[in-house]
Amino acid sequence: HTLDARHPLASGLTANSRIVRAYQGERQAVTPVWFMRQAGRSLPEYRELRVGTSMLDACLDPAMASEITLQPVRRHGVDAGIFFSDIVIPLRLAGVGVEIVPGTGPVIAKPVRTAADVAELTSIDPQALDAERLAPIAEAVGRTVAELGETPLIGFAGAPFTLAAYLVEGGPSKDHVRARTLMHSDPQAWSALLDWAADLSGRFLRAQLEAGASAGQLFDSWAGALSLEDYARRVAPSSARALSHVRGLVYEVEAPDAATPAADGPPPTRTTTRNVPLVHFGVGTGELLAAMHDAGADVVGVDYRIPLDEASRRLGGLVPVQGNIDPALLAAPWPVLEAHVLDVIARGASAPAHVLNLGHGVPPDTDPEVLTRLVAFVHAL
Ligand code: CP3
Repeated sequence: HTLDARHPLASGLTANSRIVRAYQGERQAVTPVWFMRQAGRSLPEYRELRVGTSMLDACLDPAMASEITLQPVRRHGVDAGIFFSDIVIPLRLAGVGVEIVPGTGPVIAKPVRTAADVAELTSIDPQALDAERLAPIAEAVGRTVAELGETPLIGFAGAPFTLAAYLVEGGPSKDHVRARTLMHSDPQAWSALLDWAADLSGRFLRAQLEAGASAGQLFDSWAGALSLEDYARRVAPSSARALSHVRGLVYEVEAPDAATPAADGPPPTRTTTRNVPLVHFGVGTGELLAAMHDAGADVVGVDYRIPLDEASRRLGGLVPVQGNIDPALLAAPWPVLEAHVLDVIARGASAPAHVLNLGHGVPPDTDPEVLTRLVAFVHAL
């Protein structure tokens, strides 16, 4: 499927941005940087705007979602915006009872514990998440990319396991024991649940990419709770299914043509087709990196528990990586943070390309000035 000619990738606005080219495997002179959870509670302008509006209502208000997405881009000068939304938005749009409880996270009205619960939930056709229901998402993305200009927007969705972890537990949990029990005691119900979640997330992500996002990230935040064997057998096929909804999105660009000898006149170019880049991220997933790449991502996001050179080695040295500043160091004295960031960048050099990020989200009590200083520091290197 070819993107609309007005899409920021197809029109050329973002096609040669540092972040898109790094995701496509081309090492950049200046390391591109953005932060997971850069939009949100660390910013006073966010806290002010959110007063009186629930999290999920804010996500579904296109003007508000767009403004919140833009706040950290304006303030920090990061290389990309990350769309302000949540992994449970497709559940909400499909009619599932879900709230985000401040300080806790997603809470599911009717936890999905048995095969009968799975059958009831999956009787909701994922195609119910049609263009009409996704309109607030497409509108928010459209408004945002119109403001962002040459700065790419990253779209995202939750991976099926992370969504299932909330659906089965009913809320946040430490080791996702109930979810893992269901996975083994009823593999059929489990895979029906994951495939259903994959289709919802896939449609949610596709809507963002078609409306103007220049890259997509699948968040499997809790996949680190799984063994490699369980992940590969019981989870990865559904993550691949989620990614397959957006795997075929392509656009055309005019790129320098090395094959044609330069004569007089403008340097020769040739039309090339490129894929919309896809990132796959999880926390505590050092053992799963290669399997996460195999699920159909171009880039693997790495958390702070494994150094990037080792992560790259596990990926065969051929896969662009994203990460992995330890978020805890954002509150450390600047020289400590600076040394850590230099180490992360040095280790990232062993991958074909590197996009700097945190190993997980920005902690809510982070001093935003630190993030601004960090971006300026990296861009000046
Ligand atoms: O800046 C960004 O990264 C963009 C927006 C974003 C949010 N959630 C906004 C949000 C993204 C990419 C997410 C994804 C998300 N949501 C994940 C995967 C990423 C990760 O952090 O691992 C997960 C697991 C969720 C589920 C969820 N939603 C959690 C765990 C929480 C935090 C609960 C809390 O209060 O600590 C939320 C709520 C949420 N999502 C907030 C934000 C800014 C906080 C809402 C608030 O302001 O109260």
